[in-house]
Amino acid sequence: MLFKQQALLRQKLFVLGSLAIGSLLYLVARVGSLDRLQPLCPIDSRFGPRSQDEIPLRALQFKRGLLHEFRKGNATKEQIRLHNLVQQLPKAIIIGVRKGGTRALLEMLNLHPAVVKASQEIHFFDNDENYAKGIEWYRKKMPFSYPHQITIEKSPAYFITEEVPERIYKMNSSIKLLIIVREPTTRAISDYTQVLEGKERKNKTYYKFEKLAIDPNTCEVNTKYKAVRTSIYTKHLERWLKYFPIEQFHIVDGDRLITEPLPELQLVEKFLNLPPRISQYNLYFNATRGFYCLRFNIVFNKCLAGSKGRIHPEVDTSVITKLRKFFHPFNQKFYQITGRTFNWP
Ligand code: A3P
Repeated sequence: MLFKQQALLRQKLFVLGSLAIGSLLYLVARVGSLDRLQPLCPIDSRFGPRSQDEIPLRALQFKRGLLHEFRKGNATKEQIRLHNLVQQLPKAIIIGVRKGGTRALLEMLNLHPAVVKASQEIHFFDNDENYAKGIEWYRKKMPFSYPHQITIEKSPAYFITEEVPERIYKMNSSIKLLIIVREPTTRAISDYTQVLEGKERKNKTYYKFEKLAIDPNTCEVNTKYKAVRTSIYTKHLERWLKYFPIEQFHIVDGDRLITEPLPELQLVEKFLNLPPRISQYNLYFNATRGFYCLRFNIVFNKCLAGSKGRIHPEVDTSVITKLRKFFHPFNQKFYQITGRTFNWP
């Protein structure tokens, strides 16, 4: 009798245990996909007609999977046609600034289900040879996307290249332009570090930053040095303003994107008239990398490549002070024009 009761009790415990484990597994799976399960909102009319109904995210994920297969050569053109996939010209471009965090911004925006990134820098508008190939060539370089989605590309050289504003204007005079900036001296050192690493990889020697940034004859800041010139943001922006009104630009704080990416991304979502979809779940701090990394879902996450987030060489403090003093008036003008103020020294 006692033995029978114990067996019954064990059976009940087994059933209850299985139920508890099952529920737990279900919850874990749900939390992992919570953000991605929200239905997609259609994008604002500025990004095209709201003619089609919202599509469930599951379908979108399927399409993304299909695109992946297509790139690998496993999906047929017929499948692409059947699923209405198109190569669209970008509705927004990250035009710069080099070393501002352009890759991080593009990858983070790509977390949004309505955004599709062009993975490579296309260099269409800044490269005469590419530009001569025409707009269809450019469009064919774009990733496949669902008509409701927007394509974004980034080519940081656009910001500083003379011909680019006019060329982009000719393609789409109402395009949205994203500029990500960092404190100008830090950006210049980051720029130098990238070039230095390239030289070292080829076993070449290179000048010290101090030698390039300061003119040895005048002991003043060397404005011929490209890394310095690129950091005079207002000079470049003024050229763009001959073609586009300031409302068409959004300035992203690249220093804040490093330490606190979500609020910066939310501002971009707003600027692009996208429904807010990127959440804290999609961004997690990786202590080993020292940067935020991206979480797409419970199984897929990634950090940026090791070439992003290099250790900068030590720079003489007097040179840093001189550079900061030099950039100061340009920064003030930049704040004034853009309406965005930074705590740059
Ligand atoms: P450093 O290498 O100087 O640290 P870009 O993509 O325009 O070349 O910018 C590179 C910069 O992006 C890096 O400069 C790094 O600081 C910054 N960055 C911002 N967010 C990052 C992230 N989540 N992971 C890696 N780098 C990031």
